Amino acid sequence: MSRTIAILTGGGDCPGLNAVIRAVVRSASLTRDWRVIGIEDGFDGLVGTPRCRELTLDSVRGILPRGGTILGTSNRGNPLAYPVQENGETRLVDVSDEVVRNIHDLGVEALIAVGGDGTLKIARALQEKGVPMVGVPKTIDNDLRGTDVTFGYNTAVNIVTEALDRLHTTAESHQRVMVVEVMGRDAGWIGLEAGLAGSADVILIPEIPFDMVAVCDAIEARKARGSKFSIVVVAEGAFPMAGQKVVQLTGAENLGVERLGGVGAFVADEISRRLQVETRVVVLGHVQRGGTPSPFDRILGSRFGVKAVELIEQKRYGRMVSLQGRQVSDVDIIDAVDSLNRVEPDGDLVRTAEALGIMLGRARA
Ligand code: F6P
Repeated sequence: MSRTIAILTGGGDCPGLNAVIRAVVRSASLTRDWRVIGIEDGFDGLVGTPRCRELTLDSVRGILPRGGTILGTSNRGNPLAYPVQENGETRLVDVSDEVVRNIHDLGVEALIAVGGDGTLKIARALQEKGVPMVGVPKTIDNDLRGTDVTFGYNTAVNIVTEALDRLHTTAESHQRVMVVEVMGRDAGWIGLEAGLAGSADVILIPEIPFDMVAVCDAIEARKARGSKFSIVVVAEGAFPMAGQKVVQLTGAENLGVERLGGVGAFVADEISRRLQVETRVVVLGHVQRGGTPSPFDRILGSRFGVKAVELIEQKRYGRMVSLQGRQVSDVDIIDAVDSLNRVEPDGDLVRTAEALGIMLGRARA
């Protein structure tokens, strides 16, 4: 065994993580005879006594179709602001030096960090502290820059599309307005693309603050055309004009991570109050992140894993693998995390939706 590398999965899980782990282990061991260490529970597994295990071909057998991550993950273990309990209070302390020491003590030459915005920011900071890093972009939200798409997103869009297809039949039978709240944080990709694929009538996304009057007018106009039901997709980060996004827990209450949720109920209540129609709310929640990855995400995750090992072989550290057009390539990690990839309010996707008669929540001119 000539070299030892490590891999961890951080942040919220998503379908395709196991495809990356499998690809890293297979390409590192089969073609290079390298040793791969799996760090458990994201960067959390490198705080205190490291929690890790060697990953062999046996460890990754049969995991390609499996959702989640065999390594576990955490979106609470940022070593730069690590929550420590003291006298019943939570204090955030910087334990990054300990993490760097642990990585070196494990004999790890380079670390592959598979994660979203938060995980890649940590990877970038540790790279500056002397840990050779390679990033792999994941998130169902598709909100990372530097790559055309993240893995996990395609599966989430498939799941939401299937849900919308199913909700159509029951909405129509009961002549109801179904409001479907989807994930995505401050990016409306899941809502917009699944809404397009699932033939939603109204799609509300964070990038376009919505006007309740315009939304209700659109539902009324549909009714006048003979459609007595409507499907309204609301991204969890969407908010009304002159209003705010609906937050269940603020960052201060939830270890630095804001928890969104509830805008679907708000929109449903407003519609039923203003139009006197029956509404129902469906919050798809973590169903969007669970279960088996789509073929697209299995393939993309595999390509990303193989590319990450190639970057280590070439000692091209501080890079993040990325999809550019049809080609897997790489960018500086900083290019991926300096701002969010959000839907362009006047971009092609939004214009397509509007041309199809889908209401995006904009006030009528
Ligand atoms: O970032 C992925 C995501 O699923 C978001 O779409 C959502 O807002 C958040 O994570 C939910 O986080 P948690 O799993 O901590 O509830």
